[in-house]
Amino acid sequence: MIICIGAGPGDIGYLTQHGARLIGEADVVAGFEAVLEVVHSIIPAAAQTVTMTYRDQVAMLAQVAEAHHAGKRCVVVFMGDIHFSGFQYLERVERACGHPVDTLPGISSAQILASRAKVCFDETTFITFHRRGDLAPFKRHLLHVLQDGRNAIVIPCPWDAARSFMPRHIAAYLIEQGIDPGQPIEVWENLTRAEAEWHGTLAACAQIEFSDMSIILIRTPQPMASQIEAAEPA
Ligand SMILES: C[S@@+](CC[C@H](N)C(=O)[O-])C[C@H]1O[C@@H](n2cnc3c(N)ncnc32)[C@H](O)[C@@H]1O
Repeated sequence: MIICIGAGPGDIGYLTQHGARLIGEADVVAGFEAVLEVVHSIIPAAAQTVTMTYRDQVAMLAQVAEAHHAGKRCVVVFMGDIHFSGFQYLERVERACGHPVDTLPGISSAQILASRAKVCFDETTFITFHRRGDLAPFKRHLLHVLQDGRNAIVIPCPWDAARSFMPRHIAAYLIEQGIDPGQPIEVWENLTRAEAEWHGTLAACAQIEFSDMSIILIRTPQPMASQIEAAEPA
């Protein structure tokens, strides 16, 4: 009676058919405003919409849980894919319900970035700073990923000034930790909508403000050589 679904990265064309069917059959559709906007056109007229913000999400999820326990078909819609930078919200849904809930994956902004920038998941690590709690282990992990010669796809943290860890902070942190200031970095914004891409060095990135809707790619300077069989001589 309740399921969390990934809405994709912004354009409704990236919502899965299964996700669209679940939304179309729901009695209650809940989520943050920006995410509900993505699926707005397919929410049934008779469905109750529960819009929440970071501040009131616990109270709003309690309403959704109540509807779920009353037997209503409830859908909580997540941005992109639930399984990248969505687990704290999932934990809040499960805490409100008092039990584990099902998830339906969506297409992540990280997948769109990998496709636009042609990077292979096998040689890439995904890290998000868009989360509550201690960011230090994730910062260390990013450093180790780069030191280990892997690409990194990174979601920055856009919150208040005290906590914010946006592309410029990430670039400054990496330089401070000894990564070459000339290391290339890419920042992609508003994927699948008003897309923009920026390519430069860590040193340049450390001076630039990007919007909240941005995702970073740091390619390793030592990409793996091909490991497929040698090409037949022409
Ligand atoms: C809480 S995280 C959720 C990520 C989502 N679960 C996913 O798989 O894409 C939200 C952040 O993801 C990044 N993001 C999400 N959609 C994006 C898009 N279409 N273009 C660029 N960045 C995006 C932004 O940094 C945004 O602040």
